[in-house]
Amino acid sequence: MANLTGKKMLLGVTGSIAAYKSASLVRLLIKAGAEVQVLMTKSGADFISPLTLSTLSKRPVYTDITSEESWNSHVEMGLWADAMVVAPLTAASLAKMACGMSDNIITATYLSARCPVFFAPAMDLDMWQHPATRENVRRLQGFGNHLIPVGHGELASGLVGEGRMAEPEEIVAYLHHFWERQQSLAGKKILITAGPTYEPIDPVRFIGNRSSGKMGVALADAAARRGAEVTLVLGPSRLLPRESQVKVIPVQSAGEMHRAAQEVFKDADIGILAAAVADYRPREVSAQKIKKTGDTLRLELVKNPDIAATLGGGKAPGQWLVGFALETDNELANAQSKREKKNFDLIVLNSLQDEGAGFHYDTNKITILGKDNKIRKFELKSKLAVAEDILDEIEALWNGKI
Ligand code: CTP
Repeated sequence: MANLTGKKMLLGVTGSIAAYKSASLVRLLIKAGAEVQVLMTKSGADFISPLTLSTLSKRPVYTDITSEESWNSHVEMGLWADAMVVAPLTAASLAKMACGMSDNIITATYLSARCPVFFAPAMDLDMWQHPATRENVRRLQGFGNHLIPVGHGELASGLVGEGRMAEPEEIVAYLHHFWERQQSLAGKKILITAGPTYEPIDPVRFIGNRSSGKMGVALADAAARRGAEVTLVLGPSRLLPRESQVKVIPVQSAGEMHRAAQEVFKDADIGILAAAVADYRPREVSAQKIKKTGDTLRLELVKNPDIAATLGGGKAPGQWLVGFALETDNELANAQSKREKKNFDLIVLNSLQDEGAGFHYDTNKITILGKDNKIRKFELKSKLAVAEDILDEIEALWNGKI
């Protein structure tokens, strides 16, 4: 297990009854070798004494941006930290973080933090299920923050359900796992195709589709953060990866994507084909802008190369290929037969029947199918979180666990 030695951590404690667990969380983090700077909201400090947390962390605890002695610079702390953990995170503080409201030391520091941010919500089950909370969680995940899942059990209200803060041991294990997977794809070369393709009709017109490229770009970023050498063959998309080490090869048409992907895959360990490739292109591309002469216009379309099938057909032992399937009916069977036909090791199924999944959304709901015929269903999540799930599955496959 990776350890937390020397990691500089900000721990934000907001006003939930679960704040009493912060004492053991601080102790466990310190024991794992981290330096811990505790920040508390005023109501967090009503639930557990700052003196307790300051004694355990061996540092002053900040509850306010300005104290009697000093100005506690949220900017400096945001830059100092290797990670920020907000645990427990109440529904109110979650909402503030989701909309960038910086009215206390934790939310102000959150906006200044350039490091990974983890959040462990704690609230009653109905609050946790409320659409506003669900949306706020997804917003935070959409910013690239990491949700430490809530537990199921008895809540302070006496009700039983989901909403308990993860146990301190689970939070520390989650952090260990995060740093462990920082380098989990080190040395691996990954090809990712993403975005739509544009098939030219004439110099100004094309046939395209509504793919944003978001899922593939999120995958490229997530794989780069795990240490992989990523080449992203990207169709026309407004998006670019955030991680500067991702190599981007911009392409327009399926033909260009096909050539680039073939070249990159020769030397790759893993190919992830997230592009929405146009199946057909106009047979003739007019050199001049087509004039509006008749009442109808006929375009003859010819089939594009199937990039996935080409790469799947020529896949060498030790190379893995992961594809996507967007289906509207008979989803599982169609996806499984697509996986076999294209020789994918895994296929990620998006169903258009799922609310919140597909081209127009920041979220996605996926099912992953492999050769073992097991059906792995995931919840609706931000595309960034979905990218992490897909990479976890690929790593499991790589490590022989699937
Ligand atoms: N794909 C590809 N090249 C193509 C078409 C698809 O690489 N010309 C890849 C996609 O990136 C995706 C997978 O193949 O990973 C499945 O794409 P999809 O469009 O669902 O499959 P099609 O073969 O086009 O089948 P359908 O008839 O359902 O459109």
